[in-house]
Amino acid sequence: MVSTLDSVNKQQAQQSALATAAQRKPQLAKISGVATAVPPGLLTNQDLEKMVDTTDEWIVTRTGIRQRHIVEKGVTSSDLGAQAAQKLLEQKGLKPTDIELIIVATVTPDMMLPATACLIQEKIGATGAWGFDVSIACSGFLYAQQIAVQFVANGTHENVLVVGVDIMSSIIDYTDRATCIIFGDGAGAALVQPSSGVEDGCFLDYIFEIDGSGAQYLRLAGGGSKHPASHETVDKKMHYVHQDGRTVFKFATLKMSELCHKLLERNGLTGSDISLFVPHQANRRIIEAAAERIGAPMERVLVNIDEYGNTTAATLPIALQTALSQGRLKKGDLVLMAAMGAGFSAGATLLRWGY
Ligand code: UT7
Repeated sequence: MVSTLDSVNKQQAQQSALATAAQRKPQLAKISGVATAVPPGLLTNQDLEKMVDTTDEWIVTRTGIRQRHIVEKGVTSSDLGAQAAQKLLEQKGLKPTDIELIIVATVTPDMMLPATACLIQEKIGATGAWGFDVSIACSGFLYAQQIAVQFVANGTHENVLVVGVDIMSSIIDYTDRATCIIFGDGAGAALVQPSSGVEDGCFLDYIFEIDGSGAQYLRLAGGGSKHPASHETVDKKMHYVHQDGRTVFKFATLKMSELCHKLLERNGLTGSDISLFVPHQANRRIIEAAAERIGAPMERVLVNIDEYGNTTAATLPIALQTALSQGRLKKGDLVLMAAMGAGFSAGATLLRWGY
């Protein structure tokens, strides 16, 4: 039987929970830290010349890529993601248990299940955190980051860890010259926290779009519910990424610049107002075309594809880290981030840099 005292305590607890919920105020959110983990192993264009019918000159001219970092056998996405997260925690002087939510963008999870977020949570010791994975390929980090922003903005979370990680070498056919020259491995982590105002840095606006009619042009079809893994799927190389490069190229160039343009326009800005344009690193020519269309001068565009190739969900945090190490990002800078990838999926995010 419930005593009168228990019932009074219960009512008080409910009222206090309601009062807390009512007092929760929407707030601004910002990026307050970035760290990366890139494997030391390199796959250079010269290495690829020995593996497929290609040349350094073709790869550099058509893509801008000179090398990619590749993991040693056995290194997983949760290993690299956890390394990036640990560096970030050290940098910020946070305890693993300060992290409330872990969102991991990846298309190369350690396993189909459980989510890589759970594996990273365990590896970094973020006891009590919750989390999940976001699977939207090269747009993954941008989408995951925006989800993090929602949880901070609604006043329920103060330390959200966003990880973008992909071990593309685990799903690439190194006999397919049109695909294997592009991708590399890497991880990046960002911390999303509350902001005290625009001067403190904050997320301003975003515009995202998916278009499933593009699914056929960039995909990994084997191992899912449509084509469960079998000898046949392996014989047909369905466990590898397949792409129609030209169609993806066209979509990327048009959609990334269209979304950036719309986002800038509705915020009363033009490309020349941007301090730094940080686009997904898929192909140097895609980046240059997008920059030109939105009127962003190349000296304000972050390009590091020569060094890392396309690391899918990791390109954006790695690009942010490159910008920081080159001294090209300071608190309050107006930053435009953009992505596009399989789905098709695309997006652009506008923010004031937060540290
Ligand atoms: O994050 C999203 C991931 N995917 C992408 O971003 C891919 C976007 N697309 C691209 O970056 C480019 O389309 C590629 C780099 C994949 C290809 O460049 P391209 O300038 O579009 O070349 P293409 O596919 O039009 O092929 C031109 C020629 C073809 O030969 P033919 O038919 O003209 O004789 C290809 O067979 O280049 C040939 N080719 C190569 N030659 C040397 C394709 N790959 C190679 C190669 N080395 N690695």
